[in-house]
Amino acid sequence: MTSNATSLVDRLQGRVIGRRSELEQTVAALAGRRHLLLEGPPGTGKSTMLRSLAEELDRPFVFVEGNAELTPARLIGSFDPAIVLQAGYTEEAFQPGPLCEALSSGAMLYVEEINRIPEETLNVLIGVMSEAAITVPRVGQFSAEPGFAFVAAMNPFDAVGTARIAGAIYDRVCRLEIGYQDKTTETQIVTAALGSVGDAPVEQIVALCRDTRSHPDLRSGSSVRGAIDMAVMCQELGLIRGVAPTDPLATRDATQCALSGRVRVRDGASRSAGEILEELWLRHFGVTDEVNDQVEEPSGKV
Ligand SMILES: Nc1ncnc2c1ncn2[C@@H]1O[C@H](COP(=O)(O)OP(=O)(O)O)[C@@H](O)[C@H]1O
Ligand SMILES: [Mg+2]
Repeated sequence: MTSNATSLVDRLQGRVIGRRSELEQTVAALAGRRHLLLEGPPGTGKSTMLRSLAEELDRPFVFVEGNAELTPARLIGSFDPAIVLQAGYTEEAFQPGPLCEALSSGAMLYVEEINRIPEETLNVLIGVMSEAAITVPRVGQFSAEPGFAFVAAMNPFDAVGTARIAGAIYDRVCRLEIGYQDKTTETQIVTAALGSVGDAPVEQIVALCRDTRSHPDLRSGSSVRGAIDMAVMCQELGLIRGVAPTDPLATRDATQCALSGRVRVRDGASRSAGEILEELWLRHFGVTDEVNDQVEEPSGKV
């Protein structure tokens, strides 16, 4: 790796917590003008890494959110009907979409959640990866200027159309698997996201969130986003109630409020998300008799 690329990785480390090896591999793929697919569960820093790269690199970036509405016309570009009516299908009538924009400006095209985009749009991307160009009828060819690269991200456990990605795309990209961070790194990420040095019980919050990912009754757990929300809730509840963010009622409400919508209960499990979270809260925030009395009284149940 050249010293330029090494110093780029060093600068990225100022923005991205951990992920040294992943950053090196991302920079290597782009330096080598390879296409790249980042594959990992939500909240593992895929967007953070790419956005940081966009900010550090002296190279244009085009971001596209992948979803079912990303039609080929939205990706490639389309004709403005008003101009077409007046002047016909002229070059001026064509409004380039993110793909043509990225090709002609030698930008990096970053497509998030690529597994959610319609098949015909995927086929357009496969064509571009093979040909480094696209032909738009009545306008002409958009060829990749130097610097053009394609990076995509996806959650491999996303139920929406993941199987379709196989084959043609995988054959044209380098693939980087992004797993969950370790506990220490996740704690650093939550602390950094809080911005201020409050006294939210970040380590316990992170440990609780991590347990949602391996709980036998849960199909999917919470990402680090849930841990960040829970820490913020603890702090804000503490302020509103005039208690510490570690107050049992604050941590208990924060657990439910931040996580109950995020975890998915396994089919056939006999307990609700709220009940499972209650178990995890008791595990991580301890139950002394004193705490038990305190939380039992207001609602009359645990
Ligand atoms: N390595 C990291 N360094 C700093 N912040 C991170 C890191 N990983 C995740 N985050 C934070 O966690 C949240 C989710 O990260 P994001 O990059 O959007 O995940 P993904 O794109 O994989 O779903 C963001 O608020 C981000 O700031
Ligand atoms: Mg993302």
